[in-house]
Amino acid sequence: MKKYLIALLMVCFPALAIAAGGAAYPMDTFKADLKNQESLQRGMGLFVNRCMGCHSMEYQRFARSGEDIGIPDDLMEEYLILGEQGINDQMTISMDKDDAEGWFGAPPPDLSLEARLRGGEWIYNYLRTFYRDDAARFGVNNAVFADVGMPNVLEDLQGVVVNHCTHEELLARGGFTGTLDPLTGTRSGQCLQVQAGTGSMTPVEFDQAMYDLTNYMTYVGEPSKLQAHRIGTYVLIFLVIFTFVAYLLKREYWRDIH
Ligand code: HEC
Repeated sequence: MKKYLIALLMVCFPALAIAAGGAAYPMDTFKADLKNQESLQRGMGLFVNRCMGCHSMEYQRFARSGEDIGIPDDLMEEYLILGEQGINDQMTISMDKDDAEGWFGAPPPDLSLEARLRGGEWIYNYLRTFYRDDAARFGVNNAVFADVGMPNVLEDLQGVVVNHCTHEELLARGGFTGTLDPLTGTRSGQCLQVQAGTGSMTPVEFDQAMYDLTNYMTYVGEPSKLQAHRIGTYVLIFLVIFTFVAYLLKREYWRDIH
């Protein structure tokens, strides 16, 4: 009985289940903004160009994304549909699952529901904390996903990240936190450090890009949320108008009684 209760608790509060898995990386916060169309559009651009070589989004169609986040069909076809696919096709890829398993050890999973599985915060931190590790298979490791089987496909943007800490320290102190000097306002002693001049983006630009990408993945996890927001506005407008009409009707009925 007790076991069932614990299982029930973990289903209701997924954070408990994650916490039970030992020390967790202290995440930087991420808050999705589904109203920010430009962010969602940039995020989709990054996903198609950087991730769809290996990951599909089988539950999402190009056309649905375009409609929801405001990308016209002609631009979508010209810039975001890279293969033979059409606008109404699902965002699948041609990589064979068995081949992929052979290359990477684990096949790159479909990412349609990733944001619902892991949460935006996890993805946002995961994408920013790849670091060089000569002992690892692809020469990279990750602060959030230890011994990850995914190569760092973002290194040319972020730059080469070196890790000065052990894995335990990384979990205890976080990657980029370090100690803040209250006098100068500068941080030092961060575990993860980007080697200057090795990436095409500044740290702020890179964080923004990963924000956009995570934002888009959050939208794909629950596309109807955007629609619900839009419909919600119309419902509220309707209610206001209807209340006014009902009020006029009430006045009309009561006029004879008074
Ligand atoms: C070269 C192929 C490749 C590319 C490109 C790639 N990935 Fe991956 N990815 C993988 C593999 C392989 C795994 C499985 C890693 C494992 O389980 O150890 C993975 C795992 C992941 C996971 C964790 C899945 C989970 O919950 O276990 C996320 C999130 C992810 N990738 C996001 C991305 C994003 C976002 C991009 C684009 C910036 C991207 N990937 C580009 C190969 C790739």
